[in-house]
Amino acid sequence: MSLDTQSYALPVARTVADLRAAIAGWRKAGQKVGLVPTMGALHAGHLSLVDLAKSKVDRAVVSIFVNPTQFAPHEDLDAYPRTEAADAVKLAGKADLIFAPAAAEMYPHGFSTTVSVSGVSQPLEGKFRPTHFAGVATVVSKLLLQAMPDIACFGEKDWQQLQVIRRMVADLDIPVEIIGGPILREADGLAMSSRNVYLSETERKAAGQLNVILRETAAKVAGGAIIPDATREGADRVRALGFDHVDYLDVRDAASLADFPTGRVTAPARILVAAKIGRTRLIDNMPV
Ligand code: PAJ
Repeated sequence: MSLDTQSYALPVARTVADLRAAIAGWRKAGQKVGLVPTMGALHAGHLSLVDLAKSKVDRAVVSIFVNPTQFAPHEDLDAYPRTEAADAVKLAGKADLIFAPAAAEMYPHGFSTTVSVSGVSQPLEGKFRPTHFAGVATVVSKLLLQAMPDIACFGEKDWQQLQVIRRMVADLDIPVEIIGGPILREADGLAMSSRNVYLSETERKAAGQLNVILRETAAKVAGGAIIPDATREGADRVRALGFDHVDYLDVRDAASLADFPTGRVTAPARILVAAKIGRTRLIDNMPV
């Protein structure tokens, strides 16, 4: 294989060898490199991370890989939107290279290694998606070793994922600076997500209120309310909106995701929610 420079307005590498060859050329010219890992179906939230990367380094690589190991068997791997050509149009003039490997390039026959991060992976998402973060940590560690970037950008939208990746990079001495980017939201405050396309019109309207409840609950806790009281009321309000199920709505230590045993915030804190409406599971978070 060699770099595909014909299909889109920017080049696409499909193999690790081609990715490394392209990056080696930039390195030779003394340029710094940023990586933005994605699963495609790009929206303005993803693109803001590309802009963030380009504000700090000379070259931005966007990986597009719907990583099978982070989906549980009952989750939406097959249904997950795959829109490579449209993604490439959005990245033209922003990114310098797309890395879009096939599953067999990332997980060839005989693949046997898992990177799992304990502690920060275990609560919240970890309870409801017990194999998810091992899949994320494994693929992100591979992407970081494949590209060896100076920086890698991740969204605060997936707050716990960002903390898992920071922990992993510190623990494994991976020489990369992890940079978090703010959550991009729709006009009504709904956090942008590739999964929002699944929402019906009524569901979409209710989903737009999730961030409002989160902000009001955070304000109550910041104003001195006891965490379990405020979050129980918040979860009731989310269900009253029409959500079928609230997996969690909680206030946690922002870095370790540990709970506050006294019910009061004693360190930098984050409020996080995961809730299902119809067949769509939404997550959101903000500072307290
Ligand atoms: P994906 O869901 O495609 O998200 C790619 C990156 O975009 C993540 O860092 C995510 O936090 C960020 N992002 C998503 N929505 C955002 C928003 N509204 N505002 C700002 N950033 C947003 O997260 C993954 O893919 C995967 O788990 C991955 C890290 C690529 C590993 O497979």
